[in-house]
Amino acid sequence: MDFDHAAVADAVQSAHATALQASGGANAAYIPFLAKVPAQLCGVCAVTPDGKVFEAGDTRFGFAIESISKVFTMALVMEQCGAEEVRAKIGARPTGLPFNSVLALELHGTKPLSPLVNAGAIAAASLVQASGREDRWAKILEMQRLFAGAPIALSPEINESEQTTNLHNRAIAWLLASAGNCFCDPLEALDVYTRQCSTLVTCANLATMAATLANHGVNPLTGISAVKRQNVPRILAEMTMEGLYDTSGDWAFEVGLPGKSGVGGGIMAVAPGQLGIAAFAPPLDSFGNSVRGQVAIANIAKRLSLNLYGD
Ligand code: DON
Repeated sequence: MDFDHAAVADAVQSAHATALQASGGANAAYIPFLAKVPAQLCGVCAVTPDGKVFEAGDTRFGFAIESISKVFTMALVMEQCGAEEVRAKIGARPTGLPFNSVLALELHGTKPLSPLVNAGAIAAASLVQASGREDRWAKILEMQRLFAGAPIALSPEINESEQTTNLHNRAIAWLLASAGNCFCDPLEALDVYTRQCSTLVTCANLATMAATLANHGVNPLTGISAVKRQNVPRILAEMTMEGLYDTSGDWAFEVGLPGKSGVGGGIMAVAPGQLGIAAFAPPLDSFGNSVRGQVAIANIAKRLSLNLYGD
Protein backbone atom coordinates (compact mmCIF):
# COMPACT_ATOMS: atom_id res chain seq x y z
CA MET A 1 0.00 0.00 0.00
CA ASP A 2 1.31 3.46 -0.88
CA PHE A 3 0.64 6.38 1.40
CA ASP A 4 -0.50 9.69 0.41
CA HIS A 5 2.80 11.58 0.41
CA ALA A 6 1.21 14.57 2.12
CA ALA A 7 0.20 12.31 5.03
CA VAL A 8 3.80 11.12 5.42
CA ALA A 9 5.09 14.71 5.27
CA ASP A 10 2.63 15.75 8.01
CA ALA A 11 3.48 12.72 10.13
CA VAL A 12 7.21 13.50 9.97
CA GLN A 13 6.68 17.16 10.96
CA SER A 14 4.35 16.21 13.79
CA ALA A 15 6.69 13.48 15.07
CA HIS A 16 9.58 15.95 15.16
CA ALA A 17 7.51 18.51 17.10
CA THR A 18 6.34 15.82 19.55
CA ALA A 19 9.85 14.42 20.02
CA LEU A 20 11.18 17.90 20.88
CA GLN A 21 8.78 17.97 23.83
CA ALA A 22 10.21 14.75 25.27
CA SER A 23 12.97 15.14 27.80
CA GLY A 24 15.24 12.89 29.81
CA GLY A 25 18.01 10.48 28.96
CA ALA A 26 21.71 11.16 28.55
CA ASN A 27 24.33 10.85 25.83
CA ALA A 28 26.29 7.60 25.93
CA ALA A 29 29.29 8.26 28.15
CA TYR A 30 31.31 5.05 27.82
CA ILE A 31 32.51 6.10 24.35
CA PRO A 32 34.16 9.52 24.92
CA PHE A 33 33.29 10.90 21.46
CA LEU A 34 29.56 10.30 21.97
CA ALA A 35 29.46 12.22 25.24
CA LYS A 36 30.42 15.40 23.34
CA VAL A 37 27.75 15.31 20.59
CA PRO A 38 25.30 18.24 21.08
CA ALA A 39 22.38 16.71 22.99
CA GLN A 40 19.71 19.03 21.57
CA LEU A 41 20.10 17.75 17.98
CA CYS A 42 16.95 16.07 16.76
CA GLY A 43 16.03 14.84 13.29
CA VAL A 44 13.24 12.73 11.84
CA CYS A 45 13.10 11.31 8.32
CA ALA A 46 10.93 8.88 6.37
CA VAL A 47 11.56 7.40 2.92
CA THR A 48 8.88 5.71 0.84
CA PRO A 49 9.47 2.66 -1.39
CA ASP A 50 9.01 4.95 -4.39
CA GLY A 51 11.95 7.02 -3.21
CA LYS A 52 10.35 10.15 -1.73
CA VAL A 53 12.24 11.60 1.23
CA PHE A 54 10.50 13.53 4.03
CA GLU A 55 12.57 15.32 6.65
CA ALA A 56 12.24 17.50 9.75
CA GLY A 57 14.95 18.93 11.97
CA ASP A 58 18.61 17.90 11.99
CA THR A 59 18.44 15.22 9.31
CA ARG A 60 21.78 16.05 7.64
CA PHE A 61 24.01 15.91 10.73
CA GLY A 62 26.47 12.99 10.58
CA PHE A 63 26.50 10.82 13.71
CA ALA A 64 27.94 7.44 14.70
CA ILE A 65 25.91 4.53 13.36
CA GLU A 66 26.94 2.30 16.30
CA SER A 67 24.75 -0.76 16.81
CA ILE A 68 22.55 -0.03 13.82
CA SER A 69 25.52 -1.30 11.80
CA LYS A 70 24.82 -4.77 13.22
CA VAL A 71 21.81 -5.10 10.91
CA PHE A 72 23.90 -4.61 7.78
CA THR A 73 26.73 -6.94 8.76
CA MET A 74 24.13 -9.58 9.65
CA ALA A 75 22.54 -8.96 6.24
CA LEU A 76 25.94 -9.43 4.57
CA VAL A 77 26.49 -12.78 6.29
CA MET A 78 22.99 -13.88 5.29
CA GLU A 79 23.82 -12.97 1.69
CA GLN A 80 27.09 -14.86 1.74
CA CYS A 81 26.16 -17.90 3.83
CA GLY A 82 22.35 -17.97 4.04
CA ALA A 83 20.03 -16.94 6.85
CA GLU A 84 20.05 -20.43 8.36
CA GLU A 85 23.80 -20.21 8.92
CA VAL A 86 23.26 -17.04 10.95
CA ARG A 87 20.65 -18.80 13.06
CA ALA A 88 22.77 -21.93 13.49
CA LYS A 89 26.05 -20.21 14.36
CA ILE A 90 24.81 -17.07 16.16
CA GLY A 91 21.11 -17.48 16.91
CA ALA A 92 17.63 -16.05 16.43
CA ARG A 93 16.38 -15.36 19.94
CA PRO A 94 16.26 -12.41 22.31
CA THR A 95 18.72 -12.51 25.21
CA GLY A 96 16.57 -10.45 27.60
CA LEU A 97 19.79 -8.88 28.87
CA PRO A 98 21.78 -5.72 28.06
CA PHE A 99 23.47 -5.40 24.66
CA ASN A 100 26.96 -6.02 26.03
CA SER A 101 26.05 -8.73 28.52
CA VAL A 102 28.71 -11.31 29.35
CA LEU A 103 26.18 -13.07 31.58
CA ALA A 104 23.97 -13.75 28.52
CA LEU A 105 26.93 -15.46 26.86
CA GLU A 106 27.77 -17.53 29.91
CA LEU A 107 24.16 -18.65 30.29
CA HIS A 108 24.07 -20.08 26.77
CA GLY A 109 27.38 -21.86 26.35
CA THR A 110 28.89 -18.73 24.80
CA LYS A 111 26.43 -18.75 21.92
CA PRO A 112 25.35 -15.12 21.40
CA LEU A 113 21.67 -15.94 20.53
CA SER A 114 21.32 -12.77 18.43
CA PRO A 115 23.50 -11.07 15.79
CA LEU A 116 22.22 -7.74 17.13
CA VAL A 117 23.90 -7.84 20.54
CA ASN A 118 27.61 -7.04 20.79
CA ALA A 119 28.70 -10.68 21.09
CA GLY A 120 26.57 -11.76 18.13
CA ALA A 121 27.73 -8.82 16.06
CA ILE A 122 31.39 -9.63 16.70
CA ALA A 123 30.60 -13.24 15.72
CA ALA A 124 28.82 -11.96 12.58
CA ALA A 125 31.86 -9.86 11.63
CA SER A 126 33.96 -13.00 12.05
CA LEU A 127 31.63 -14.96 9.74
CA VAL A 128 32.00 -12.52 6.82
CA GLN A 129 33.69 -14.41 3.99
CA ALA A 130 36.77 -12.37 3.20
CA SER A 131 40.41 -12.78 2.19
CA GLY A 132 41.71 -10.84 5.18
CA ARG A 133 41.09 -7.97 7.58
CA GLU A 134 40.89 -5.13 5.03
CA ASP A 135 38.72 -7.16 2.67
CA ARG A 136 36.41 -8.01 5.59
CA TRP A 137 36.12 -4.33 6.42
CA ALA A 138 35.63 -3.33 2.75
CA LYS A 139 32.74 -5.80 2.36
CA ILE A 140 31.03 -4.56 5.54
CA LEU A 141 31.40 -0.91 4.51
CA GLU A 142 30.14 -1.65 1.00
CA MET A 143 26.98 -3.19 2.48
CA GLN A 144 26.31 -0.02 4.52
CA ARG A 145 26.80 2.01 1.31
CA LEU A 146 24.44 -0.19 -0.69
CA PHE A 147 21.71 0.19 1.93
CA ALA A 148 22.20 3.96 2.17
CA GLY A 149 22.81 4.61 -1.53
CA ALA A 150 25.44 7.07 -0.32
CA PRO A 151 29.22 7.13 0.26
CA ILE A 152 29.18 6.17 3.94
CA ALA A 153 32.67 6.48 5.48
CA LEU A 154 34.55 5.74 8.66
CA SER A 155 35.06 8.61 11.10
CA PRO A 156 38.69 8.25 12.22
CA GLU A 157 37.88 10.27 15.35
CA ILE A 158 35.02 8.00 16.44
CA ASN A 159 37.01 4.89 15.55
CA GLU A 160 39.93 6.08 17.67
CA SER A 161 37.58 6.85 20.55
CA GLU A 162 36.04 3.35 20.37
CA GLN A 163 39.20 1.34 19.66
CA THR A 164 40.92 2.79 22.73
CA THR A 165 38.01 2.19 25.12
CA ASN A 166 36.51 -1.14 23.97
CA LEU A 167 37.96 -3.30 26.73
CA HIS A 168 34.60 -4.91 27.54
CA ASN A 169 34.11 -5.92 23.89
CA ARG A 170 37.63 -7.36 23.85
CA ALA A 171 36.63 -9.64 26.71
CA ILE A 172 33.53 -10.69 24.75
CA ALA A 173 35.62 -11.48 21.65
CA TRP A 174 37.97 -13.70 23.66
CA LEU A 175 35.05 -15.46 25.38
CA LEU A 176 33.53 -16.19 21.97
CA ALA A 177 36.84 -17.52 20.72
CA SER A 178 37.31 -19.68 23.80
CA ALA A 179 34.14 -21.62 22.95
CA GLY A 180 34.68 -21.80 19.18
CA ASN A 181 32.05 -19.15 18.43
CA CYS A 182 34.39 -16.66 16.76
CA PHE A 183 35.15 -17.68 13.18
CA CYS A 184 38.28 -15.64 12.48
CA ASP A 185 41.02 -14.17 14.65
CA PRO A 186 39.08 -12.57 17.57
CA LEU A 187 41.07 -9.34 17.49
CA GLU A 188 40.42 -9.00 13.76
CA ALA A 189 36.68 -9.55 14.33
CA LEU A 190 36.72 -7.01 17.16
CA ASP A 191 38.66 -4.43 15.10
CA VAL A 192 36.31 -4.72 12.15
CA TYR A 193 33.21 -4.68 14.40
CA THR A 194 34.52 -1.53 16.10
CA ARG A 195 35.10 0.12 12.71
CA GLN A 196 31.61 -0.79 11.51
CA CYS A 197 30.18 1.05 14.56
CA SER A 198 32.30 4.13 13.77
CA THR A 199 30.90 5.17 10.40
CA LEU A 200 29.01 8.43 10.07
CA VAL A 201 25.41 8.42 8.90
CA THR A 202 22.73 11.08 8.72
CA CYS A 203 19.13 10.57 9.67
CA ALA A 204 18.34 10.73 5.93
CA ASN A 205 20.88 7.94 5.27
CA LEU A 206 19.36 5.84 8.01
CA ALA A 207 15.80 6.30 6.75
CA THR A 208 16.98 5.19 3.29
CA MET A 209 18.62 2.12 4.84
CA ALA A 210 15.31 1.33 6.57
CA ALA A 211 13.44 1.98 3.32
CA THR A 212 15.69 -0.51 1.52
CA LEU A 213 14.41 -3.12 3.96
CA ALA A 214 10.85 -1.83 3.55
CA ASN A 215 11.33 -2.15 -0.23
CA HIS A 216 12.24 -5.88 0.01
CA GLY A 217 15.99 -5.28 -0.23
CA VAL A 218 16.10 -2.82 -3.13
CA ASN A 219 17.34 0.69 -2.36
CA PRO A 220 14.49 3.02 -3.40
CA LEU A 221 16.85 5.88 -4.28
CA THR A 222 19.33 3.96 -6.44
CA GLY A 223 17.18 1.01 -7.58
CA ILE A 224 20.09 -1.28 -6.67
CA SER A 225 19.47 -4.49 -4.74
CA ALA A 226 21.37 -4.63 -1.44
CA VAL A 227 20.11 -8.04 -0.30
CA LYS A 228 17.99 -10.86 -1.63
CA ARG A 229 14.28 -10.47 -1.03
CA GLN A 230 14.15 -13.82 0.77
CA ASN A 231 16.57 -12.59 3.47
CA VAL A 232 14.56 -9.49 4.36
CA PRO A 233 11.94 -11.29 6.54
CA ARG A 234 14.77 -12.94 8.51
CA ILE A 235 16.54 -9.60 8.99
CA LEU A 236 13.29 -8.04 10.20
CA ALA A 237 12.62 -10.97 12.53
CA GLU A 238 16.02 -10.54 14.18
CA MET A 239 15.30 -6.81 14.54
CA THR A 240 11.93 -7.56 16.15
CA MET A 241 13.56 -9.85 18.72
CA GLU A 242 16.59 -7.78 19.69
CA GLY A 243 16.56 -4.44 17.83
CA LEU A 244 15.99 -2.41 20.99
CA TYR A 245 17.74 -4.93 23.25
CA ASP A 246 15.96 -5.77 26.49
CA THR A 247 13.10 -3.42 25.58
CA SER A 248 12.43 -5.03 22.18
CA GLY A 249 9.30 -6.66 23.61
CA ASP A 250 7.96 -3.36 24.91
CA TRP A 251 8.70 -1.77 21.54
CA ALA A 252 6.77 -4.52 19.72
CA PHE A 253 3.92 -4.10 22.19
CA GLU A 254 3.73 -0.34 21.80
CA VAL A 255 4.84 0.33 18.20
CA GLY A 256 4.65 -2.97 16.34
CA LEU A 257 7.49 -2.38 13.87
CA PRO A 258 10.95 -3.98 13.60
CA GLY A 259 13.47 -1.39 14.76
CA LYS A 260 17.14 -0.95 15.55
CA SER A 261 18.81 1.56 17.81
CA GLY A 262 22.38 2.70 18.34
CA VAL A 263 24.11 4.46 21.23
CA GLY A 264 24.98 7.31 18.84
CA GLY A 265 21.31 8.34 19.18
CA GLY A 266 20.07 6.91 15.89
CA ILE A 267 17.09 4.61 15.56
CA MET A 268 15.37 3.17 12.50
CA ALA A 269 12.15 1.24 11.97
CA VAL A 270 10.73 -0.63 9.01
CA ALA A 271 7.11 -0.84 7.89
CA PRO A 272 7.45 -3.62 5.28
CA GLY A 273 6.25 -2.55 1.85
CA GLN A 274 5.32 0.86 3.20
CA LEU A 275 7.95 3.07 4.81
CA GLY A 276 11.48 3.37 6.18
CA ILE A 277 11.67 5.66 9.21
CA ALA A 278 14.64 7.04 11.15
CA ALA A 279 15.18 9.46 13.98
CA PHE A 280 18.26 10.89 15.66
CA ALA A 281 18.59 12.50 19.07
CA PRO A 282 21.59 11.67 21.29
CA PRO A 283 20.11 11.33 24.82
CA LEU A 284 19.49 7.64 25.56
CA ASP A 285 17.36 5.74 28.04
CA SER A 286 19.05 3.29 30.40
CA PHE A 287 18.80 0.52 27.77
CA GLY A 288 20.77 2.49 25.15
CA ASN A 289 17.85 3.65 22.99
CA SER A 290 17.27 7.29 21.94
CA VAL A 291 14.51 8.80 24.08
CA ARG A 292 13.29 11.30 21.49
CA GLY A 293 13.94 8.89 18.63
CA GLN A 294 11.57 6.34 20.11
CA VAL A 295 8.90 9.01 20.65
CA ALA A 296 9.23 10.22 17.04
CA ILE A 297 8.94 6.77 15.47
CA ALA A 298 6.09 5.69 17.75
CA ASN A 299 4.30 8.88 16.74
CA ILE A 300 4.65 8.19 13.00
CA ALA A 301 3.63 4.55 13.40
CA LYS A 302 0.49 5.54 15.23
CA ARG A 303 -0.45 8.40 12.96
CA LEU A 304 -0.04 6.32 9.79
CA SER A 305 -1.45 3.10 11.35
CA LEU A 306 1.74 1.16 10.64
CA ASN A 307 1.59 -1.29 13.56
CA LEU A 308 2.08 -4.71 11.95
CA TYR A 309 -0.16 -6.36 14.49
CA GLY A 310 -3.12 -4.06 13.82
CA ASP A 311 -4.49 -0.71 15.02
O1 DON B 1 30.10 -1.91 20.96
C1 DON B 1 29.50 -0.98 21.50
O2 DON B 1 29.22 -0.98 22.69
C2 DON B 1 29.12 0.21 20.64
N1 DON B 1 30.07 0.39 19.59
C3 DON B 1 27.74 0.00 20.05
C4 DON B 1 26.68 -0.29 21.08
C5 DON B 1 25.33 0.17 20.72
O3 DON B 1 25.13 1.02 19.87
C6 DON B 1 24.21 -0.34 21.53
N2 DON B 1 22.99 0.33 21.14
N3 DON B 1 22.05 0.79 21.45
